[in-house]
Amino acid sequence: MHDKKKILVTAALPYANGPLHLGHLAGAYLTPDLYCRFKRLKGDDVVFICGSDEHGVPITIAAEKEGVNPQDIVDRYHEMNKSAFDQFGISFDYYGRTSSKVHRETSQEIFTTLYNKGFFKKKTEKQLYDAKKDMFLPDRYVKGTCPNCDFEEAYGDQCENCGTSLSPTELINPVSALSGEKPEVKETEHWYMPLGDIQPKFEEWLNTREGWKPNVLGQVKSWLQDGLADRAATRDLSWGVPVPLDEAEGKVLYVWFDAPIGYISATKEWATEQGKPEVWKDYWQNEECELYHFIGKDNIVFHCIMFPIMLMEHGDYVLPKNVPANEFLNLEGKKLSTSRGWAVWLHEYLEDFEPDLLRYALGTTLPESKDSDFSWKDFQARVNNELAAVLGNFVFRALSFTGKFAEGKVPELIDPSETDLEALKAIQTQKDKVSAAYDAFKFKEAIQESLNLARVGNKYFTETEPWKTRKDNPQACNNTLYVSNQICAALSVLMEPVLPDSMKKLRAQLGMNNEISWDQISDAMIPSGTDVNAGEVLFTKVEDDQIEAQIRRLEERAAANDPASNYPPLKDNIEFGDFMNLDLRAGEILASERIPKSDKLLKLHVDIGIETRTIVSGIAKHVDESTVVGQKVCVVANLSPKKLMGVESKGMILMAEDSEGNLKFVETEAENGSSIS
Ligand code: 2FM
Ligand code: ZN
Repeated sequence: MHDKKKILVTAALPYANGPLHLGHLAGAYLTPDLYCRFKRLKGDDVVFICGSDEHGVPITIAAEKEGVNPQDIVDRYHEMNKSAFDQFGISFDYYGRTSSKVHRETSQEIFTTLYNKGFFKKKTEKQLYDAKKDMFLPDRYVKGTCPNCDFEEAYGDQCENCGTSLSPTELINPVSALSGEKPEVKETEHWYMPLGDIQPKFEEWLNTREGWKPNVLGQVKSWLQDGLADRAATRDLSWGVPVPLDEAEGKVLYVWFDAPIGYISATKEWATEQGKPEVWKDYWQNEECELYHFIGKDNIVFHCIMFPIMLMEHGDYVLPKNVPANEFLNLEGKKLSTSRGWAVWLHEYLEDFEPDLLRYALGTTLPESKDSDFSWKDFQARVNNELAAVLGNFVFRALSFTGKFAEGKVPELIDPSETDLEALKAIQTQKDKVSAAYDAFKFKEAIQESLNLARVGNKYFTETEPWKTRKDNPQACNNTLYVSNQICAALSVLMEPVLPDSMKKLRAQLGMNNEISWDQISDAMIPSGTDVNAGEVLFTKVEDDQIEAQIRRLEERAAANDPASNYPPLKDNIEFGDFMNLDLRAGEILASERIPKSDKLLKLHVDIGIETRTIVSGIAKHVDESTVVGQKVCVVANLSPKKLMGVESKGMILMAEDSEGNLKFVETEAENGSSIS
């Protein structure tokens, strides 16, 4: 038995400005859930904390887009995301939110303590300012060209193309995300965290960390090599935690200052909910407690450098033992993009499949050390070839045989063969491997090694041929069933972290209760005589048409979000001569009248230089009749005359149709009669 450890696990607080997708789950939520479930099974005292990040520019921009208050946005997505996590079995002990009172007070208290310790540097600096909107443009309120990679859509805080962290004034050709105007530069005062001054002390601390992943250390070292710079802890914004200083009226804390403090405030709220308001200190203010931050790679600098420095300088808090960040998940070979509709939303997934299937498929494809790819075909293969064909099949063979040939009871093990003993031994071997993998944050390996026990089981079952031995050597058959049932029972705990719903069903089939523990995994988990039943099949195969429907949905949504899809497709090429056969002329509308009984047609008199023509045009709904006279236009002058509503029309006026179906004149400045080519 090992000592019961206090383990505090945090998962990055997602912005409450939109629904969650696969990338979120694979990046920062499935892994800590696997870890917490494993550690709980080991008997450790685990608290798993998450919540909504409700401040910052992403929230206010979402609110502005919809024309609602930021509070409306965060209320909507907080509930939606909390529920999606819940349905996927992400077993948070508490899901807080940074717009709460406790959070505001906690953030202000931490700021004030740091302020009183002389941590901040107050500086007056030039920042971008939108004169039209009368506001400064921090972070994502400004867009421009990335100085590092020339990407034209980089944000003021980060370039999403190359990942470089930026400040708004570094952008080339900045424009306000609010008004589209070129910003001015104006002075403002802010409180900066002097990260560079603390760098030597921070590096000393960092050197005491063990077992950090190379992808995480690599990023941290590169920041340190460049030398840490001062970072503002305050912003000129109205949405956020107010800076608790009289001289800072109208300013709020920088979202990356308050968001990680959200882990502390959520733990306080959890403690209060437990009826022990002070118990949060047993975790946050206890040197013995192990703190782990699970995040995606874009959050590394904040969790590995900035937040630890804040806590270090505050002095009362534990610092992270490890920050096992994941890389990014791509989708069908392309970068996930919510704006381009290239995403699988969790709430949509749940309409079609069980949560466990995705937990497994993502768990075996996690971007642990480099970016990885989720594809629907791979999802199908994982479910069909691994969950159904290996795990489900083994369990079904073992339990249905027990039902048919051992009256549904686990038989006795008598005179086991070498093969029986080998198979039983695999339980301990796999248990150790899985345990070591979880402890080393190697989640893919942990899941694969768990499934390997089912592979051992299948191989063993096939080799011992109970369908034959039941006739000529019933004890050998009984031994096979005894061993197979023990393997099933071990699997029901080994695979619990990744497949919580299915393993609960399996335990019901094995007559086991749900008070399980890691230590209980052994080669004699269910006593002989226990009633077992095959019950329902644990995993049904995913059919091709189900997968095709998902791929179609993804492609249709991406097409709908592609600006090019709002216009008709390009027509086939024509020869130059065909184009030259058109006689296009510059002209001017001299008079306009409505054609009786038609709400579409206008009868226009058009001067085309050589002569004045009557042209009937179906534009009445699209143009302002009062300004039509005098309008310069392009005319197809050699179109055969045609009668429309009794009026002969000689030619056609060129119109352009925009993405919303509005018609606009194709104007020209050329004198009437000019030939257009
Ligand atoms: O990147 C994000 O989605 C941030 N909302 C993560 C915040 S993590 C923590 F600091 F709260
Ligand atoms: Zn870039």
